[in-house]
Amino acid sequence: MSASKIKKIAVLTSGGDSPGMNAAIRAVARTGIYHGMEVWGVMRGYSGMIDDDIFKMDSRTVANIIQRGGTILKTARSKEFFEPEGRKKAYANLKKRGIDSLVIIGGDGSFKGAQKFSNEFDIPCIGLPGTIDKDIAGSDFTIGFDTAVNTAVEAIDKIRDTADAHDRLFIVEVMGRDAGYIALHSGIATGAENILIPETKTDIEELVANLTEKERRKKLVNLVVVAEGDEFGGANEIARIIKERLPQADTRVCILGHIQRGGSPTCLDRLIASRMGYHAVECLMTGKTNVMVGVVNNKMHYTPLDKAVKAKQKISEDWFKIVKILAS
Ligand code: F6P
Repeated sequence: MSASKIKKIAVLTSGGDSPGMNAAIRAVARTGIYHGMEVWGVMRGYSGMIDDDIFKMDSRTVANIIQRGGTILKTARSKEFFEPEGRKKAYANLKKRGIDSLVIIGGDGSFKGAQKFSNEFDIPCIGLPGTIDKDIAGSDFTIGFDTAVNTAVEAIDKIRDTADAHDRLFIVEVMGRDAGYIALHSGIATGAENILIPETKTDIEELVANLTEKERRKKLVNLVVVAEGDEFGGANEIARIIKERLPQADTRVCILGHIQRGGSPTCLDRLIASRMGYHAVECLMTGKTNVMVGVVNNKMHYTPLDKAVKAKQKISEDWFKIVKILAS
């Protein structure tokens, strides 16, 4: 499909929702319509493409959604799309409407599906990184991360109040099955003593020694922030061991869970979603296809979808030094 021929774009959200997805949908729809294209919305990610749940959007379809969390297109993780039969059905449903391009707002799993689809069929795809986990290389930001981390910070600040009142040790679990960015950022921003994430090896002996030393120095507020995907286990497992090894500590667990995925997107998430949505359409118009649109050093950055699939962000060693020194 040559760039000049693109006339009908379909947009969908896939995988875990993230705050700001609606702002991205709005940007894709309004930019496409501005350039005289038809824009179609697909419900429930790739499932809607297979089940033919696709509708034509207009500028009003996306009115009053920039400030809303969730996604008006709903989302799903489709197993069927990973089977050739599923993708064939999906293609047929696009084809019968003359839809000739696709914008996918989601995480690396969703890009994996897009990559396969665009290899098999003549449908250029553009990915926008929509995930609270920020676990996609090729962008300094992902849509939803800023909101999620601010939700975590607000909650942990509240936990700190009650921890302080009772001289308790709190193990707070935040989201991040494969990535520790929410834990790292929220932990640093709330002054956590220790931050446990899947990207680094968790040394439980070091954690116990650290907490024991702080107890000896009568450091009263103790917050440990753990990403749910930490290889040692989540907050319950960490707390179980601490209770065994430090029975004198009054230990509590708080698992923040899906509260981190909802809520009104922050200004930053609305901005990056709008910018990325706008550039997704620009990409399709200029023939820059099968890429993920990112922002690096405040400039647009385009990563081939197959690289966005495989790469994971590396966490700089610097962060750990900062945690150690500032929480001493
Ligand atoms: O969207 C990413 C994520 O929030 C992960 O951090 C988390 O592990 C996962 O999704 C939870 O998925 P589900 O909502 O399907 O339980």
